[in-house]
Amino acid sequence: MRKHIVAGNWKMNKTFEEAEELIDNLMTTLENTELAPDTLMVVCPPFPYLEMCSEYSEDSYFLPGAQNVSDQESGAYTGEVSAAMLQSLEIAYCIVGHSERRAYYGETDATVAAKVDRLLAHDIHPIVCCGEVLQEREDGRQLEVVERQIREGLFHLSAEQITEVVVAYEPVWAIGTGKTATPAQAQEIHAYIRSLLAKQYGAEMADKISILYGGSCKPSNAREIFAQPDVDGGLIGGAALNAEDFMAIAKAF
Ligand code: PGA
Repeated sequence: MRKHIVAGNWKMNKTFEEAEELIDNLMTTLENTELAPDTLMVVCPPFPYLEMCSEYSEDSYFLPGAQNVSDQESGAYTGEVSAAMLQSLEIAYCIVGHSERRAYYGETDATVAAKVDRLLAHDIHPIVCCGEVLQEREDGRQLEVVERQIREGLFHLSAEQITEVVVAYEPVWAIGTGKTATPAQAQEIHAYIRSLLAKQYGAEMADKISILYGGSCKPSNAREIFAQPDVDGGLIGGAALNAEDFMAIAKAF
């Protein structure tokens, strides 16, 4: 009953020409691939390529997503991009609270909560990231950290709103490092996140929410991770920059 989602986070990579080529490759590969039913592919390129991505997506099976959004509605916020702008390009998903934004751009749980509100007001599904840094895992504090991020980023939402949200568990020590969480480590945290959602919104609601794993997910490890009962897909960084690898991950269900 939950959607399987494989979302590609391109981060700050690719020129316009390279981006077009990647999307073109993706569309060709998608045409020749049979995905499991209920598998949704989301492509999150940098802002300048969103319109192109959105146009291409009309003729294909993927949906366009953004990597970030302003926490403000509109106005004098130089350099920011609003949820209304994303909506006007028919952007379906938007990543919020990625650990790189938390670490390098000072995003807090309060910023995450505000961005989630902006997106939901414009019918865009937030993909809300959480996850502990290495020191927190070594101190055995991963559950506490993830609980705080989920509670403060999401628990102001109504039961109706929460089902529009996608959660991504991304242990920061696994992002871009080649070090993946073991399937058991991923399952433990995913089940914990679902239990938190169940406590707050009831088991039926929690059961509807897709929880993605992110952090060095690649064709060679996706199948094992996606086989875990509470892992509903992946947020893919490096491997999303290559159409064949990204598709191989999407086929891992
Ligand atoms: P990675 O990035 O797959 O390159 O580790 C994942 C992410 O940051 O979303």
